[in-house]
Amino acid sequence: MSQEFTDHVKTSFGPKSTQKSRRVLGSLIQHIHDFTRENQITVDEWMWGVNFINRIGQISDEKRNEGILVSDVLGLEALVDTITHAADTKGHTSSAIIGPFYRDNSPVYKNGESIIQKEVGGEKTLVTGRVTDTKGNPLKGAKLEVWHCAPNGLYEQQDPDQPEYNLRGTFFADDEGKYSFVGLRPTAYPIPYDGPAGDLLQIMDRHPMRPGHIHWRVSHPTFHTLITQIYDRDCKYTKDDSVFAVKEDIIVDFKPLGDVPEFAKKGVTNRLDYDIVLTLEEEVQKTRQRVLDQQAEVEKDLSARLSSA
Ligand SMILES: [Fe+2]
Repeated sequence: MSQEFTDHVKTSFGPKSTQKSRRVLGSLIQHIHDFTRENQITVDEWMWGVNFINRIGQISDEKRNEGILVSDVLGLEALVDTITHAADTKGHTSSAIIGPFYRDNSPVYKNGESIIQKEVGGEKTLVTGRVTDTKGNPLKGAKLEVWHCAPNGLYEQQDPDQPEYNLRGTFFADDEGKYSFVGLRPTAYPIPYDGPAGDLLQIMDRHPMRPGHIHWRVSHPTFHTLITQIYDRDCKYTKDDSVFAVKEDIIVDFKPLGDVPEFAKKGVTNRLDYDIVLTLEEEVQKTRQRVLDQQAEVEKDLSARLSSA
């Protein structure tokens, strides 16, 4: 069927549909139809796709988010992350994907405390730094949520041998914007590949490994929430990430602990110094408004064309 058929579907929206739904769903319909024509999709192939989407839902639960995993192996979450933050003001720490393993309400610790609730091996690392605005002013009270996997490659919710919220914690920056905690030098791990995301990897002949990384969510009442990850420069997968999330400026260097006896006696061997720069929410909203204005123009144009059709 031709473009005429696609136009018929795109103009079938009722008067109660919003301009945004016309623009976004209209574009989706156009791309899906183009994809189907371009690849001459048959009923059997379409049914394979329908079953594939159904399986994404069937395998997902509160501990597993296959929709995110499938998006990730296709590079979709990395692309969405980049688009979302393209309009942000410069000079702040780069964002990265949140991934499927975030949990809110992780235990609140004091600065310098450890997120290791149970010994699971690995190299203990002291992580320290400051949270500031783009001019270097400290952001007292900034909330830092961090999480990473155990050396067996599993996050606590995937692993019955780890206690709840192991290797996760919430910290607050002090008067000088400083924070610190003890965690593990992160380990490379495979994303779960026993479901639809794994099937895609197999079809594409790709490995499931992610480089060693620590996840961060850093928030403050008047600043834009930063979701990011840091990547270990020495990990071989930092240059070959299965979900395409690595950005150059969030690759970090882990160093030997040095002369910090207080932490050395607790078995800490490594150190990571990592400063975080946030940008004002107001600034982000201002730049994003420009994008919204451009979209509104497209919607106006679309409405005018539909009403004259
Ligand atoms: Fe992760």
